[in-house]
Amino acid sequence: MKGQIQLHEVDFAYPARLDAMIFKGFSINTDAKKSTTLVGHSGSSKSTINGLIKRFYDPLKGIVKLDGKDIKIFHLRVLRKHIALVHQEPILFVAGFKKLVQFGMTRPSRIRLNVGRNESQTHDFISGLKHGYDTWCAGKGVQLSGGQRQCIAIARAILKNAAVLLLDEATSALDSRSEVVVQEALERLMVGQTCVENCDSIAVVDKGKVVEKGTHASLLAKGPSGAYYSLVSLQRGPNPSTPT
Ligand SMILES: Nc1ncnc2c1ncn2[C@@H]1O[C@H](COP(=O)(O)OP(=O)(O)OP(=O)(O)O)[C@@H](O)[C@H]1O
Ligand SMILES: [Mg+2]
Repeated sequence: MKGQIQLHEVDFAYPARLDAMIFKGFSINTDAKKSTTLVGHSGSSKSTINGLIKRFYDPLKGIVKLDGKDIKIFHLRVLRKHIALVHQEPILFVAGFKKLVQFGMTRPSRIRLNVGRNESQTHDFISGLKHGYDTWCAGKGVQLSGGQRQCIAIARAILKNAAVLLLDEATSALDSRSEVVVQEALERLMVGQTCVENCDSIAVVDKGKVVEKGTHASLLAKGPSGAYYSLVSLQRGPNPSTPT
């Protein structure tokens, strides 16, 4: 599995709101072994794209492909084995921490677990608990903050070693210290590509369409009339080319 993702002419509406079309003829291509970042205003359907890739929902029309094959031909379990997702708001089952971190791994090994522990910085807070990795999460066990849940989800994604890694604002719930640490771990995993500026390709989504695609530099070069330029200037002020 190489990990090339393609959405081809996809029409989509959520089952609960079939009258509200999210995509009409939406297409996007991403390269295997490369990083693609989706940017856009809140509600511009970035998370929905991840949901379609992971097959939480199927398109009404069009095809989602993995390595050129319609994802519907894969057994759901097989498809999801190849795709790791750190969701914007991770939900964890009631289980022991060890199980939660290993979840989705085909053959959990001690070595890989240790790598995941160190890489995701979950180890500090889990090992500090009275029962360590045998502590139960939720239920009658430990209740986790949003940031701690994200740490678990990231550790699991790292350990899964999948062909496709989907990060949906993966560090948004972390405090700034933890965010730096987790970002560094993800940078090592993805060879310096988690930051929007450094990723191979940026796609700007707006009203269910990809309106611009390119690198950070090429999109900024479009100047103030560009969609990416205006999103960056919203964050950085009027002169987005100035590094922060
Ligand atoms: N389960 C759902 N049922 C119905 N509509 C939904 C559902 N989830 C999302 N939507 C709608 O789909 C649209 C796209 O939402 P989505 O969460 O994909 O946006 P987003 O770009 O990820 O936003 P954000 O930047 O805030 O995370 C929104 O209009 C939203 O209201
Ligand atoms: Mg989202």
